[in-house]
Amino acid sequence: MCGIVGFTGEHQAAPILLDGLSRLEYRGYDSAGLAVRDGEKQPEVIRAKGRLKVLAEKTDNGVAVLGTCGIGHTRWATHGEPSVTNSHPHMSDDGNVIAVHNGIIENYQELKDKLIRKGYVFHSETDTEVAVKLVDYYYKKYEGTPVDAINHAMVRIRGSYALAILFQEYPEEIYVARKDSPMILGISDGESYIASDVPAILKYTRNVYYIGNLEMARVRKGEITFYNLDGEEIQKELKTIEWDAEAAEKAGFEHFMMKEIYEQPKAVADTLNSVLKNGKIDLSETGITEEIIREISQIYIIACGSAYHVGTAAQYVLEDLTGIPVRVEFASEFRYRKPIMDPKGLAMVISQSGETADSLAALREAKELGVRTVGIINVVGSSIAREADHVFYTLAGPEISVATTKAYSTQLMAVYALALQFALVREKITEEQYEKYIAELQTIPEKIQKILEDKERLQWFAAKQANARDVFFIGRGIDYAISMEGSLKMKEVSYIHSEAYAAGELKHGTISLIEDGTLVIGVLTQPELYEKTVSNMVECKSRGAYLMGLTSFGNYNIEETADFTVYIPRTDPHFTTSLAVIPLQLIGYYVSVARGLDVDKPRNLAKSVTVE
Ligand code: G6P
Repeated sequence: MCGIVGFTGEHQAAPILLDGLSRLEYRGYDSAGLAVRDGEKQPEVIRAKGRLKVLAEKTDNGVAVLGTCGIGHTRWATHGEPSVTNSHPHMSDDGNVIAVHNGIIENYQELKDKLIRKGYVFHSETDTEVAVKLVDYYYKKYEGTPVDAINHAMVRIRGSYALAILFQEYPEEIYVARKDSPMILGISDGESYIASDVPAILKYTRNVYYIGNLEMARVRKGEITFYNLDGEEIQKELKTIEWDAEAAEKAGFEHFMMKEIYEQPKAVADTLNSVLKNGKIDLSETGITEEIIREISQIYIIACGSAYHVGTAAQYVLEDLTGIPVRVEFASEFRYRKPIMDPKGLAMVISQSGETADSLAALREAKELGVRTVGIINVVGSSIAREADHVFYTLAGPEISVATTKAYSTQLMAVYALALQFALVREKITEEQYEKYIAELQTIPEKIQKILEDKERLQWFAAKQANARDVFFIGRGIDYAISMEGSLKMKEVSYIHSEAYAAGELKHGTISLIEDGTLVIGVLTQPELYEKTVSNMVECKSRGAYLMGLTSFGNYNIEETADFTVYIPRTDPHFTTSLAVIPLQLIGYYVSVARGLDVDKPRNLAKSVTVE
């Protein structure tokens, strides 16, 4: 995935680059590097294996590196193990071309062989070094401008890239190129910025350009010129980012994950309010008209990770409220399945970043098949947001912690709003029911707040479970969807093996893993399925399991069965995911803290997965 930054202006570049990288570290954190240029001098390249702080220490937080123009990188290894040699920036042997890269060059071996035949020598195992040397090769071969050289390289590269490149003969300038990997360009008072994502530059400017696919740019101090693949100059509109700079800071919390868990009441309320006009849901900003809603024959939800878990909950809600058949799929599966799609279907792609490679490819596949698409997206101007026919923006603000919390919750709210509007327009619910559902949705933020206020019990419980070896989350229907997200939160931040099971399935094999003391968390928010799941919990208890029950206040007497019970406020059964997920996020968080792990940056993960 990797994060890239760039800066050219009047200030010292290295501290700005390191600051930007620190906000992109969620994209990868196994090594980092900088190339900074002081006037016409040869750029200084510094690279370090490990977290960004190793690079910061090596450069005295950037102060020791002189120069006002530079590029930086934080890596999530794809080609080649994390090491100094494989770290970016990479350079041509004579230092003519130096670059950082995010993405994957699929035909790198073929290009590398060609370059070796031309006399190039390779030092790293990376695909990036191939890109750098290819640009160098064309620059020297055609003796043209950097844009010409990059252009020639781009038509030969297969795969994805966001590249920021320094050329020896062009001091104080950075050249960039993009295909399928995110990149934004910022500008303010004689200075220019390059970044993979908004939080990296939010402190310095809110004025940004979105560079399109297969486009290039020449970045000078306070001046950015864009080019298409033919090398012709193109015009871009300057956009303003609405997020406030504090939103990307920890604001006194020990970890971003906890801060973001706490931001959920506001984020969820903001997302709901963004489509509420006079007590009714207004989808006009998304462009989804009543006519479109009436025509939908089938909904295909496509997503990855937690966004997929939103889809699994949404499936129950949408089918039950609207009567439209819903299918939920992993984007990575959908894209290669040769899907058969109904032309009157609606493909709903859910993604926080709007850049997940598989989700983007799935969106394109759906469009190719002539199906209408809607993106439920958090990052404004991201690739999926730009390419989908309709966009429903969630208002989570910047999410920094790798494990998602608030983006997940806002995605749920977006899905509820769509479900209610579809149900009303298709006359599956009455005006009165519609109003009641909306009123219930409006209570969700304060109910989340209530759960947060009672977090000490969960902290205590998590501390007791910190040495657990396996955890099983079980539930039926929506409770199964909740279990999936609870299980993912647990394993990704605490490294404890956990699995989510449809409660009725456990006995078909997995129950053999239950031993004395194995923690089984039963999710019990659906009245009609409550007793069934309790029976499955009891089956586990009979085999030694330690049971936690998660249920709604006042509904049931689970305490007789479970060893530990967590109650959430009552709400309509369609919307319980929004509440039940909160204690599960908190348990995952507290187990991770109790084990002394890096909560915000779990090993091997990255927030924005822009490779397949
Ligand atoms: C990564 C993140 C997950 C996220 C998934 C999909 O794996 O760690 O938290 O759910 O990508 O990301 P998206 O940006 O498409 O929602």
